[in-house]
Amino acid sequence: MVTDTRNRPLRDLRISLTDRCNMRCRYCMPREHFDSHQFLAKKEILSYEELTTVVESLIPLGLTKVRLTGGEPLLRKDVCSFIKMLPPQLDLAMTTNGILLEKFAQDLADAGLNRVTVSLDALDVETFQTMGDTNEKPETVLRGIEAARKAGLSVKVNTVIRAGYNEHSVQRVAERFIGSDVVVRYIEFMDVGETNSWNDDEVITGEMMRKMLENIKPIKANHLGEVANRYIRGTQELGFIESVSKPFCGECNRARISADGSLYTCLFASKGNDLKTLIRMDASKEQISEAVRSIWSKRDDAYSLNRGTIDAEKVEMSFIGG
Ligand code: GTP
Ligand code: 5AD
Ligand code: SF4
Ligand code: SF4
Repeated sequence: MVTDTRNRPLRDLRISLTDRCNMRCRYCMPREHFDSHQFLAKKEILSYEELTTVVESLIPLGLTKVRLTGGEPLLRKDVCSFIKMLPPQLDLAMTTNGILLEKFAQDLADAGLNRVTVSLDALDVETFQTMGDTNEKPETVLRGIEAARKAGLSVKVNTVIRAGYNEHSVQRVAERFIGSDVVVRYIEFMDVGETNSWNDDEVITGEMMRKMLENIKPIKANHLGEVANRYIRGTQELGFIESVSKPFCGECNRARISADGSLYTCLFASKGNDLKTLIRMDASKEQISEAVRSIWSKRDDAYSLNRGTIDAEKVEMSFIGG
C-alpha cells in the first residue's frame, strides 16, 4: 500500500488510450484549438503490453480499479484484446462518448469489462450537436447504451450541465432513464485544461440542479473517494459531481496515465511524471512500482480545494482522461 502526504491511498488508475476523439465537445476539445492540434504519433503511445506492465506494477501498491478513457477509448485499435490482458480481479470500467458503443458492447463485456460510463449531454438533436460540435445524433448513443445493458455491463450516464446550453437536460435525461438501472450523473462544468473558455457564470451547481428536480433524497456513498454525491428519486439513482462547488480532493485516490506514458496525480496538473522512459529501458515491475511509490508518496494535489490560487498552465482532459 502507498499513501500520499494527505494520507490518500492509490486505488484507481485512469488510462488514456488515445488523445484523439470523434467528437469536439466545446467544453473539452473546442475546434478552434483541436482541429489544428498535433496529436500523438503511434510510436509515442504506450503499447498494450507496456500498459499491462504498469497496471500489474500498481497492484502491490493497492490498485483495485482501472478505467479506460481517452480522448475516446473506442478509437484505439483492438481495445478488447487489451481488456483481456488486464488482471481480472480489478474493477474494469470505461468512459466513452458512446458513438461506437453499439458495435463494441458485446465484445467489451466478453473481454471482461465490468462497467461503462457514457457521456450524454442532451437528448434533443440540436443541443447534442451544439455541445458536442458534431453531426452525430443522441439516438446513436442511446443505442450504444441499450447494447451495453443487453451485454450485461453496468451503465452510468454522465451529463455535463453548462449554463446557456443544456439546463433542460437535468430533467430530460433523468426522465429518459426512469425505470431502468442506468445511473444518471450530472457534472458541473469544470475549469479543466486551458482551451474551453471556462468561466464561473457558466457553472450550474449541483445545488441548482437539484432544485430543478423534485423529491430527491440524499443516500450514502458507495465507497470512500466516490466522486458523485448520490441521491434517490423514487427508485432512480441520480448523482451530482460537484467538483467546483463542493470539491472532493480530500479522499482523491485517482492516478492518471496519458497515452504517451506520463503519470499524473491530479486532473488539473500541469506536468506528468515520465514512466515511458523507464518502461522502455526494460525496467522490472518492481522498479516501476518503486518509481510510482516515490511519486505518489510526495503527492500533495488538491486543485479543486485551492481553485483560484494556482496559476500554472493545466493539461487538457482529452490528453489525460476524465
Ligand atoms: P465510478 O467508479 O463509477 O464511481 O466512476 P467515477 O465516478 O470514478 O468515474 P467517472 O470517470 O465516470 O467520473 C465522472 C466524472 O467526474 C469524470 O468524467 C470527471 O468529469 C469527474 N472527475 C472524476 N475524477 C475526478 C477528479 O479526480 N477530480 C475532479 N475534479 N473531477 C473528477
Ligand atoms: N467540465 C466537466 N466535465 C467535463 N468532461 C470533459 N470536460 C469537462 C469539463 N470541462 C466530462 C465529459 C465526460 C467525462 C470524461 O468528463 O463530458 O463525461
Ligand atoms: Fe471527446 Fe469526451 Fe472530450 Fe467530448 S468530452 S471531446 S467525447 S473526450
Ligand atoms: Fe483529485 Fe485533483 Fe480532482 Fe482534487 S482536483 S479530486 S486532487 S484529481
